[in-house]
Amino acid sequence: MRKRILITGSTDGIGLVAAEKLCQSGHHVILHGRNANKLEDRIDDFKLRLGEDSCEGICADLSSWTDLRAFRKIISTLGPRIDVFVNNAGVFKSSQPILDTNLDLRFMVNTLAPYVLSKAAMEMMCEGKRIINLSSAAQASVDIQALRGDRRLNDNAAYAQSKLALTMFTTYLAKQNNPKNQVVVSLNPASFIGTNMVRDAYGMEGKDINIGGDIIVDTSIGERFANANGMYFDNDRGDFSDLHPDVHDEDKVKTLIRTFDEIVGEHL
Ligand SMILES: NC(=O)c1ccc[n+]([C@@H]2O[C@H](COP(=O)([O-])OP(=O)(O)OC[C@H]3O[C@@H](n4cnc5c(N)ncnc54)[C@H](OP(=O)(O)O)[C@@H]3O)[C@@H](O)[C@H]2O)c1
Repeated sequence: MRKRILITGSTDGIGLVAAEKLCQSGHHVILHGRNANKLEDRIDDFKLRLGEDSCEGICADLSSWTDLRAFRKIISTLGPRIDVFVNNAGVFKSSQPILDTNLDLRFMVNTLAPYVLSKAAMEMMCEGKRIINLSSAAQASVDIQALRGDRRLNDNAAYAQSKLALTMFTTYLAKQNNPKNQVVVSLNPASFIGTNMVRDAYGMEGKDINIGGDIIVDTSIGERFANANGMYFDNDRGDFSDLHPDVHDEDKVKTLIRTFDEIVGEHL
């Protein structure tokens, strides 16, 4: 059956590869990007090569609360028609890692925006649909002061903390806040895949980008993920894997969710 799949950060990297593969299999993809021209180019290219009805697009910079608010509003109308929502957009390194709001860009794009979008998607999407959140093998315990913008972190720490925070809220939403029995999953697509992120961060070419594209496709539509609610798939191992101990620490999860809600409440 033809599915409608929204992938954030699908103007480049593994999100773009997954989007193309899904369109090639006949699914309809909603591409998302932060750069309007780049997004338009990707849409034109897909429509030309993969069919006029292969895709559509949403433009939103996930480091902007204004754009995030607008994106959330779009989900409130589009949500009931979406089968799979993939929070894939992410950032590791930037020349300006601290935003005007004093928040770290990595927490904003990799954690707070996916938290807002996951909640909106779960509210609006139908029974049993899938939400996939891109995690990482790099996971480190979250410094709440750093999350609030009261302490600075280096790139590695900010990225790893943002990804554990995402994994913690993903399992929390999957288990505690999931009345429609949706399938909410954290995914490490594999480490050191050859994308802009890895080239910029580590100065290496990295692994075949199809490894990341294929696992996003599988997680989005594959049968083996149909009952994976709350689980973490580690594509470095090619299997489901144990979650970081902090995901099971009720006090840490409670503090994290409370902090998210305070920050989001202040800005949205
Ligand atoms: N590559 C790996 O080895 C690896 C390993 C573990 C996890 N991951 C995760 O996989 C996901 C995809 O990463 P990738 O390797 O494909 O990286 P990438 O090639 O750098 O792609 C990242 C995507 O996110 C978008 N993006 C970045 N900042 C944004 C913002 N402020 N607002 C909206 N979109 C934004 C980028 O937009 P532009 O097209 O405009 O740049 C791009 O489409 C990330 O969540 C990453 O953490 C990757």
